[in-house]
Amino acid sequence: MSNIGTYDERRKNFDWSISEEELEYKPENVINIGWYCSDRICQMGKADKLALIWEGFGGREKKYSYNDIRLASNTIGDFLQKCGIKSEDRVCIFLDRIPELYLGFLGILKIGAIAQPLFSAFGDESLLVRLENAETSAIITQRKHVGKVRKIIDKLPHLKHVIIVDHDGKKPLKEREMVFSLEEAEPVENLKIYPTKAESASVLHYTSGTTGLPKGVKHVHYSLIGQYLTAKWVLDISDDDIYWCTADPGWVTGTSYGIIGPWSLGVTQCVLDAGFSADAWYRFIEKHKVTVWYSAPTAIRSLMKAGDEVVKKYDLSSLRHLVSVGEPLNAEAVVWSEKVFGRPFHDSYWQTETGAIMISNYPGMKIKPGSMGKPFPGIEATILDPETYNPISQPGRIGLIAFKPGWPSMMRTYWKNEETYKSKFVNGWYLSGDRANIDKDGYFWFIGRDDDVINTGGHLVSPFEVESALLEHEAVAESAVVSKPDEVNMEVVKAFVVLHPGHEPDDDMELNIMNFIRKRLSPLAMPQEIEYVESLPKTRSGKIMRRLLHAKEWGEEIGDTSTLEDE
Ligand code: PRX
Repeated sequence: MSNIGTYDERRKNFDWSISEEELEYKPENVINIGWYCSDRICQMGKADKLALIWEGFGGREKKYSYNDIRLASNTIGDFLQKCGIKSEDRVCIFLDRIPELYLGFLGILKIGAIAQPLFSAFGDESLLVRLENAETSAIITQRKHVGKVRKIIDKLPHLKHVIIVDHDGKKPLKEREMVFSLEEAEPVENLKIYPTKAESASVLHYTSGTTGLPKGVKHVHYSLIGQYLTAKWVLDISDDDIYWCTADPGWVTGTSYGIIGPWSLGVTQCVLDAGFSADAWYRFIEKHKVTVWYSAPTAIRSLMKAGDEVVKKYDLSSLRHLVSVGEPLNAEAVVWSEKVFGRPFHDSYWQTETGAIMISNYPGMKIKPGSMGKPFPGIEATILDPETYNPISQPGRIGLIAFKPGWPSMMRTYWKNEETYKSKFVNGWYLSGDRANIDKDGYFWFIGRDDDVINTGGHLVSPFEVESALLEHEAVAESAVVSKPDEVNMEVVKAFVVLHPGHEPDDDMELNIMNFIRKRLSPLAMPQEIEYVESLPKTRSGKIMRRLLHAKEWGEEIGDTSTLEDE
């Protein structure tokens, strides 16, 4: 029997107090995610149970019990406090998926500070805008990433500490840099846990929009109530599972379900900090006997591409439940996973802003391959008419996905951007910015985004950010960025570029521009193709019409061009 039992029954009798009671939380009490994910599990008699099995490049392995993660997070929290970090200060974690990332996350929360995880492949410009916006006080990083911090530190007066966790003691430290080694530090047995309340800020995740700078999505400690129960009912995690979430905690899946969900449930989780290959992933599942696997469509499509033969080389019989998130999970991928793993991937849908899973396919519920499933019990979801913002009652009609506000893990605001936050609510609904329809059985079918944001391999990229960075390149006069279709990543970034006179549109230039973006922003934001054009289509008011370029890439109808400049 699955944890959720019968979906329809759960929906009928649902109250978030189910989660509060299981977590022994009473309104107005202290609620601290760092404590819940380590100290509480130890107090429940599971101090010696494995919390983390970590594997790095070349098969290097480390294991941590719940008592180990309790002590390690105490130690990091204590170190931060001694540096002068106080409650609500922002502490950025800029690390590969090494143990310090996971343990540091808990340590930051334990002292009441706000964790700001950032993807370690971000370039200096991506890092700068996010640290500037959050007025971050400290950054925890590695030797190999410190160069990016050094490049921008003069522009960051709030950043008081650059903490390097793997310093070899040889190279001299620069201004504001300091060394912390978890292995060498004296373990701190007793740390005073900061008495955070439900509405105390916990995590700040940055997400990209069509326009403007990335937005800092503010979450609070009460989000635990949602993350705990969704991990239990959707991912179906139980005490003796071995759980693997393939997402990087630089993104919300990697924190909500790569740290908070599994550890608040006291389960053993595995982390693989190595590059992707089908063999490496299957070997990892076989070696650690992974039972519950949370991954993403691009990874699944890459595994499909690697073929069925490679699956047969490994014993994957431990796998019990498979779930996917981040982008549309095509029906073929569901059918394929059923064929090769004997289990279908269950699609789940949510966002950085929602903090936890909103729509999903549940264990025991009939899956319609290609559909996202149904709203989590306790979540009221609908499709709104894009003109009137009223719910659409006809099955199959496309509209905007919207949710009735009030679930525990909902973002509380965009950092220093209350106006944009408010603009997300209309007629008492939270607008997700995605389009879908609902069939006659209540299943949601994803159609697409309602903006220009590019979802490449499950990662959101802002065309505006890429266009702005392109303009910093000395050869680029104008640019427009759209998505183009891709077999594995669903869509990738494509840039249309007008060069300044005197610059040649050759292969060298293309590579040069691509690398420029990779270094400044990230490998995800790097255009996979650059098309040189004489001019870009613009409206009479001078705005670039991305819509036209997008339609051309996707072979779609161009639509109304009556405001085009050249007409
Ligand atoms: O467009 C939807 C897409 O990813 C967006 C959220 O991205 P992010 O905030 O980075 O969070 C990703 C992980 C929670 C959504 O607005 N998306 C997410 N899940 C799905 C999806 N698109 C289709 N199907 C999904 N299951």
